[in-house]
Amino acid sequence: EKGGFDTYMLKEVYEQPQALTNTLLGRLHDETGEVSLDIGLDPKSFKRISIIACGTAYYAGLVGEYLIEQLARIPVECDVASEYRYRNPLVGENTLAIAVSQSGETIDTLEAMREAKKGGAQTLGVINAKGSSMTRELDDTLYIHAGPEIGVASTKAYTSMVGAFLMLALWLGRARGTLSDKEGAELLSAARELPRLVEEALRPERVQRIKEVAEKYAHARDYLFLGRGVNSPTAYEGALKLKEISYIHAEAYAAGEMKHGPIALIDENLPVAVIATESRLLEKTISNVQEVRARAGKVILFLSDGDEENAQHGDDVIYLPRAHEMVSPVVNAVAMQLLAYFTATALGKDVDKPRNLAKSVTVE
Ligand code: M6R
Repeated sequence: EKGGFDTYMLKEVYEQPQALTNTLLGRLHDETGEVSLDIGLDPKSFKRISIIACGTAYYAGLVGEYLIEQLARIPVECDVASEYRYRNPLVGENTLAIAVSQSGETIDTLEAMREAKKGGAQTLGVINAKGSSMTRELDDTLYIHAGPEIGVASTKAYTSMVGAFLMLALWLGRARGTLSDKEGAELLSAARELPRLVEEALRPERVQRIKEVAEKYAHARDYLFLGRGVNSPTAYEGALKLKEISYIHAEAYAAGEMKHGPIALIDENLPVAVIATESRLLEKTISNVQEVRARAGKVILFLSDGDEENAQHGDDVIYLPRAHEMVSPVVNAVAMQLLAYFTATALGKDVDKPRNLAKSVTVE
């Protein structure tokens, strides 16, 4: 049932190219550059969007926030469901509330969506589990079609959620006229590349390299993850994965925020994983890396293939397939999953049964 893999988690990591293919299947139209999502929602019927989720789904929502604001120019806020539901949120008829959930059963998310609905919002789910509670209660569902996810640490659901947000952002951007034909076509082809890029990220020599680095730092007490822009959630997700399955204390920050406090933690015992793949802000990230190294922190640098120039800034460099910045969170997340996985297995942890965790949290 684990298809020859040692764990469900690893099996699901390797299922990502197929899961992404299924997420995108039949929804992207090359000839016209259009996206069809088979949802009844009128893309012009709201003025703001609230994204509501927990855990890994929340981080997918943060990527969604970034993509929708960039491509469709709609104000978006992304909230942790357990906060949203109790803060008497401002909702109205011109709000679209989007729940993000693998299981469709997380009680905090479900209750938060009930709040939003009560306030008059239209509701949409970005959900994996067919026929789950959320899909029954929300106005519409955009299924991510990642297939069943058994591993407690979410992997393929995350990358498929991000893929679904990319389509949603494209769809909104096209319908609302904020995205030109040319940009639309460019992003559409970047989206189409995703399954292949993830497959590339999973090539044995790349996986082996991450394993080596993971083993080198497996005895660290703490870890710091840094990323910027659309990849700051990648850093958050990296830290969460590591905590969940290896029990190493990990924190994540938007790279520019480091100097406002967390920099105090840096010393020669702290591995700092930095997502520094191709982006508009790469130079800024590299200057953050220099700040880390000036304080003797150990930098694990994730760079895009071919970036030899920046390799000197890392104690250890991991190369990732080059991707359009807007789709790079999907490719980069795979590296985060593998880093966490091989750290946990080096420490002899049972990754499929992490302590204190359940697959879905249906009590408050
Ligand atoms: O089923 P959901 O997507 O609503 O679950 C949300 C979180 O509980 C979930 O993502 C959790 O953080 C995972 N264990 C992360 O790996």
